[in-house]
Amino acid sequence: MKKILHVSCSPRGEAAESYRLSSRIVALLREREPSADVTHRNIGDGSIPHVDMSYAMSQASLHDVSQEGSMALSDILVDELESADVVVIGTPMHNLTVPSTLKAWLDHVVRARRTFTMTSAGKVGTLHDRPVYIAVASGGRFSGERARQPDFLTPYLTTILAMIGLHDLRFFSVEGTGAGTEAVAATRDATETALQVHFSMPDAI
Ligand SMILES: Cc1cc2nc3c(=O)[nH]c(=O)nc-3n(C[C@H](O)[C@H](O)[C@H](O)COP(=O)(O)O)c2cc1C
Repeated sequence: MKKILHVSCSPRGEAAESYRLSSRIVALLREREPSADVTHRNIGDGSIPHVDMSYAMSQASLHDVSQEGSMALSDILVDELESADVVVIGTPMHNLTVPSTLKAWLDHVVRARRTFTMTSAGKVGTLHDRPVYIAVASGGRFSGERARQPDFLTPYLTTILAMIGLHDLRFFSVEGTGAGTEAVAATRDATETALQVHFSMPDAI
């Protein structure tokens, strides 16, 4: 592992629970490999715009109609993703799924003829597989017996990242951040234990 890409998606920036958890994962990865470079891509502030018209037209045609605008930003974001040995995404759950900031990033990196190709059998990813850690924070619970809402976040990310060739996903979450300080502390502890178990394995990365 030489390069880690840390994508943080919360509008709450460094105060975010998902940022705290994803930063912890980055720290554990760097304990494994102190010389690893980390690229921080903070998108929670809305710095990634929606894709533009020529990008949308490219996606719907057999060739790229422009190399500018969204296409130029897409090149930068795909290069960043391609060059990472490990990806860490910190994201809140918004309205049962990913926040629109993360969706905007996905719209730039899930790109026809660049990160997937269309075949008679369907879409085939072109990125080589690598570990992708996904740190999720949610106000309520979305997994386990105490879940009281559906989860469109983890199945969506699993499917869309597989479409570009990324199958090796590891989800960790702090759920129930709206449940009060004591409950959040207990959930953080349980997640930290899960991380310790994961990173104690010899081939954890
Ligand atoms: C627009 C918006 C929508 C939200 N939707 C949900 C939701 O569907 N389910 C949920 O459990 N929490 C929801 N929340 C609460 C956040 O997931 C929760 O506050 C989380 O801890 C935020 O993580 P962060 O600190 O990393 O931003 C929502 C928050 C916002 C701002």
